[in-house]
Amino acid sequence: MLSNQSADPAKRSSLHGHWSSRMAFILAVTGSAVGLGNIWRFPYVVGENGGGAFVLVYLACVIVVGMPVMMSEILMGRRGRRNPIATMALLGSEEGKSTRWSLVGAMGVLAGVLILSYYAVVGGWTLAYVFKSGVGAFANAGVAVVTSIRDDFLGSWVNLGLYHTIFMGLTIFVVARGVERGLEQAVRFMVPALLLLMVVLLGYSITSGHFAEGVAFLFTPDWSKLTWDTVLTAMGQAFFTLSIGMGAVMAYGAFLSEETSIPGSATVVAMADTAIALLAGLVIFPIVFANGLDPAVGPGLVFVTLPLAFGQMPGGVFFATIFFVLLTFAAWTSAISLMEPAVAWIMEHFSKSRAQAAVMIGGLIWVLGFGTVLSFNVLADFTFWRGTIFDNLDHLTLNIMLPLGGLLIVVFAGWVMCRNATAEELGGAGLIYKLWRVLARYVAPIGILFVFLKAIGILPELS
Ligand code: PHE
Repeated sequence: MLSNQSADPAKRSSLHGHWSSRMAFILAVTGSAVGLGNIWRFPYVVGENGGGAFVLVYLACVIVVGMPVMMSEILMGRRGRRNPIATMALLGSEEGKSTRWSLVGAMGVLAGVLILSYYAVVGGWTLAYVFKSGVGAFANAGVAVVTSIRDDFLGSWVNLGLYHTIFMGLTIFVVARGVERGLEQAVRFMVPALLLLMVVLLGYSITSGHFAEGVAFLFTPDWSKLTWDTVLTAMGQAFFTLSIGMGAVMAYGAFLSEETSIPGSATVVAMADTAIALLAGLVIFPIVFANGLDPAVGPGLVFVTLPLAFGQMPGGVFFATIFFVLLTFAAWTSAISLMEPAVAWIMEHFSKSRAQAAVMIGGLIWVLGFGTVLSFNVLADFTFWRGTIFDNLDHLTLNIMLPLGGLLIVVFAGWVMCRNATAEELGGAGLIYKLWRVLARYVAPIGILFVFLKAIGILPELS
């Protein structure tokens, strides 16, 4: 096929052009996928939910539910070529069905806004740790010092709010200017550098003396630790880490060239994302056990374990600073994609400039973010339903809105869109297409629904 095409000069040049845009797309989606979800959230939810069994359910969700949802989002984005709300309305009417499918896009836009409101607070927390690392606050520090630095930081809403403000400012700045160029360059450098530093950390973890214990915690399933609520959390984590279920990947798919393979791109992104999450687990749990920490401490887990590790390794001040810089970058590229659907919608729907839309949406998210800022201090005891304001936002968006969005997206791609349309986007009706179709029509929707109903307690336990 290649030699065939190279005989035709027009095709040869377009082949080259498309290779580079395939890379650009994969980089943009990887930038969105790799972020705090992998390094901050994955380890602490694994710790809170008992380890191995949770990890295996999460991996199964990535493959069986995550992959078909991601492919569906990309193909819908490429076919519609608009913001997610307009794309769903357009595709719905093209198939002779309701334009009301746009509500799925609207829920995604809302989910992006709510998620970013707490994501930016944790992004700010990461940024603050760049400076703490840089001045050597963690050098030779033990558990007590590292824990008190974390508690002091979280305890002050002014500090947390300040860094949240800086992080939101950075995000608004990039989104207002348009996301293309800088993002691509940043991700091209950031993901390999982050991987490299994770490998350095892994080296430290292996020598910590508790590596085997960490591996066992991560991969030995204790099924008695699993409840349907835990399964829902694992599924929510799979959606969150892959950036799916809220239209971010759909928005990026709108700029994808016709020739690029959607299954191929989705596979590369999912593998890179999963590898980074597992690596984070392999780094963090041996450190947890070596220092006698509790794996279930919650959102502060990486902000205690990693400073401890860096504090004890040679060149630790340098490595810690670089690491938190990279993690801030990773969070930044994800934050940009969380905001993009809302900004694209405001621009198209209200005829605003990109900068105006970014400031409006960003300002709203910034204000909402104080709900999370205060959840760690002033309002720490103000709890309802799932806990603090932060806990509720986390549960509502990740465990409800993203899986629900994903469910409606696969149902749309599998049942509402005609076979010809989806086969054309996924490169013909071969084996991969058949596999996608079975997953998108049956396995993923039934799986998501089943977990939902079980977790809510609507389906009774059998035994
Ligand atoms: N996937 C990102 C992370 O793991 C978060 C994200 C979710 C980004 C949804 C965009 C959309 O950090």
